[in-house]
Amino acid sequence: MPTRRSVLTAGLTAAGSAAWTAGALGPLLRSRHTPATRPVAATAPLVQKYSLPLPLPRVLQPYSTADGTDRYRLTMRPARAQILPGLWTDVLTYGGHFPGPVIRARSGRPVTVEQHNALDMPTSVHLHGASVSEQDDGKPMLTIAPGQQRTYTYPNNQPHASLWFHDHAHHMESEHVYRGLAGTYLLTDDLEQDLPLPSGPYDIPLAIRDARFDENGRLIYVMGDHPNRTTLLANGRAYPYLRVAARTYRLRLLNSANLRSIRLRLADGSDIVQIGSDGGLLPRPHTTDAIALSPGERADVIIDFSRYPLGTQLILNNTNLEGGPADQLGEVMRFDVVRTAVDHSEIPAQLRTLPPLPTPTAERTITLHMDEDGRPDPQGYINDKTYDPDRIDTLIRHGASEIWTVTNTNQFVPHNLHLHLVQFRILERDGQAPGPAESGLKDTVMVMPGETVKLQATFDTYRGTYLYHCHLIDHSAMGMMAQFKVA
Ligand code: C2O
Ligand code: CU
Ligand code: CU
Repeated sequence: MPTRRSVLTAGLTAAGSAAWTAGALGPLLRSRHTPATRPVAATAPLVQKYSLPLPLPRVLQPYSTADGTDRYRLTMRPARAQILPGLWTDVLTYGGHFPGPVIRARSGRPVTVEQHNALDMPTSVHLHGASVSEQDDGKPMLTIAPGQQRTYTYPNNQPHASLWFHDHAHHMESEHVYRGLAGTYLLTDDLEQDLPLPSGPYDIPLAIRDARFDENGRLIYVMGDHPNRTTLLANGRAYPYLRVAARTYRLRLLNSANLRSIRLRLADGSDIVQIGSDGGLLPRPHTTDAIALSPGERADVIIDFSRYPLGTQLILNNTNLEGGPADQLGEVMRFDVVRTAVDHSEIPAQLRTLPPLPTPTAERTITLHMDEDGRPDPQGYINDKTYDPDRIDTLIRHGASEIWTVTNTNQFVPHNLHLHLVQFRILERDGQAPGPAESGLKDTVMVMPGETVKLQATFDTYRGTYLYHCHLIDHSAMGMMAQFKVA
């Protein structure tokens, strides 16, 4: 066994100073539930890549559309899914769907979701990125007991955005999300609908995450087990292929991993056009060769497959290996260009105009920290405190527009920060203006070790108590979560 120090150093060297280094920190991030780390190759089944198609998540139909409201009913229940070719894996699902289902909503038209809990653990359903009342926010302590149900109301009084929903039950959210309790919520509006972007079958949600399996294909969950979760899943399947037409596609990328950040790149290094982020379209499209996403973040991108001859097989790579095995972490899925198709879509040079930032009325300092000294039961802290559901950490005046200066005070462990209720703007990253990928509305922002990010959020909708936390959700389950109250 290498010593902790040698593991750390090796990881840092391999990953380089600018890369995420949590991969090297597995031994430091273990909780008391964690057995010694083992090399994954000893237990993981051998996966034949590109033998199964990419699953397209099921779009749910409302059971009622009366009174201008779309009403859905879902049962949280166990199911089995073919994640690895030839093996069936027990998962937790919304309505039996793995990957989680898609709800399509429209701004100004409310949605209700009646959630029945047929699992043996309490659950709580959070719509990530949404502006909803406190009771509908999926609070950690406001759980649905086994056998019980709860109806969540989503008023959709906000612009279009690619949102997602997932479990948020206190101390259980990270395992529940890991085992499958996550779904997609695509909110659209007239502004977005009027743009000639690829749509219908050419608009595909693509959630990417990692996982660890035993030799029988069972999911292994260990809190903080980052280095051993080395199988990448695209829409809940390991290394699938997607047959595409030689035209443009819109992909709604979501990093649904618990801890792993990814950096996506086409194998030939060709252009990806990013058109959106967490809170909808960017002001202008941005052409890049790589998309970096920390857990919980989204990116809307356009890929043009018309530049490839029919028969091309194009791998989507992850270049953020963090010292992990390249054969498992370096590839996500494959696009097979198999046919031609007409394409009348276009990417307008101007996508939307964001409202001007209000004059800030308050400033705050937020520190993100986690024990990284190798103690057996590491805790996570926001402003030096672990989560206490009975404590209000930040009191905000209704209508305030606040600048939060957020610093990751760790030496090695990456974090991000997610605020419930609001979409915010990023003002600065380490004193510099943010790049184009961060020029739109955001609800989750990555903060690397030692980094400081300034964001501005306006709290002019609901009053009540909401969470802010690190969305490396094993960290939030370790206490890295706090509450603000808008009053
Ligand atoms: Cu996506 Cu509080 O979470
Ligand atoms: Cu959220
Ligand atoms: Cu964190």
